[in-house]
Amino acid sequence: MMLRRPRRNRKNEVIRSQARETNVGTEHLIYPLFVVDGQNHRSEVKSLPGQFRLSLDHLLKEVEECMNLGIQCFDLFPAVDESLKDKMATYSYAKENFYLRYIQEVKKRFPEAVIMTDVAMDPYSSDGHDGVVKDGEIINDATLDVLGKMSVAQAEAGADIIGPSDMMDGRVEFIRNELDEAGFSNVSIMSYTAKYASAYYGPFRDALDSAPKFGDKKTYQMDPANKREALLEAELDYMEGADYMMVKPALCYLDVIHSLKEAYPIPIAAYNVSGEYAMLKAAAQNGWLDYDRAMPEMLLSIRRAGADVILTYFAKEFAQMQKG
Ligand code: PBG
Repeated sequence: MMLRRPRRNRKNEVIRSQARETNVGTEHLIYPLFVVDGQNHRSEVKSLPGQFRLSLDHLLKEVEECMNLGIQCFDLFPAVDESLKDKMATYSYAKENFYLRYIQEVKKRFPEAVIMTDVAMDPYSSDGHDGVVKDGEIINDATLDVLGKMSVAQAEAGADIIGPSDMMDGRVEFIRNELDEAGFSNVSIMSYTAKYASAYYGPFRDALDSAPKFGDKKTYQMDPANKREALLEAELDYMEGADYMMVKPALCYLDVIHSLKEAYPIPIAAYNVSGEYAMLKAAAQNGWLDYDRAMPEMLLSIRRAGADVILTYFAKEFAQMQKG
């Protein structure tokens, strides 16, 4: 006799689905898209097979296709021409910035699409860093001004969610105040709360050509060894008014996602980053893994750890697979 036989709840698919604790749906996913200035441009990122840098015409097409598949939230990242970069990232809030125009155009065509933006200096910085560089150092408080201007410019363009990915201290409160003063109290902030100095961002930096020109990002991004420090970052971001808190990357940091989810009563996001996508794609291309099973399993594990939303390059393919 055995009173407890867990296998009974795995007997068939009906019973398994009753016992299922976690799910992934398109409503949980945010699709990151790379954009470039120009027309009729769609170039694949070598280290991110299936992901492209898109000009506005292709971006609108992509958003439309995704909306029809049930993906309704997009995070846009600009690939900026080297000639427009400078030390203070001034192009990030310039009137002629194509990124701001693209946000406006997407919102005009698809008012129901939710647009998230990236706030950090690196795509616009001639130093390739997320903050102002002086004598080889990243200067925190001088960076806040730039981040504030960038955030307000993006909100003016129609952004729904501002995503500060820079890891400067105090930026959530600073940005919140700037947005409120400019009349954008309805615009949300999804803070990159626990963003680690990770090797898994490599393909993303290829996509935007945004790798640091010197050094690394270890004086602002977190040490992969630390988890209690993530709770400190979370406490600050929560008190400073973040609407969502993000952990990034996702897979190597599932424990951090779990801890934040337990400790804070706001949505927790996880960024399933470029390197995580690239690893799985490479294994699939070699026939080493069954992509159609491995990909949803990855997303499910991030949800199970506690993520309410997942930023993932798999979003569109996942939606297509679900439609069958
Ligand atoms: C930069 C930024 C990065 C990512 C999102 N915003 C890279 C970095 O910090 O160097 C990485 C995303 C990914 O790897 O998919 N502020």
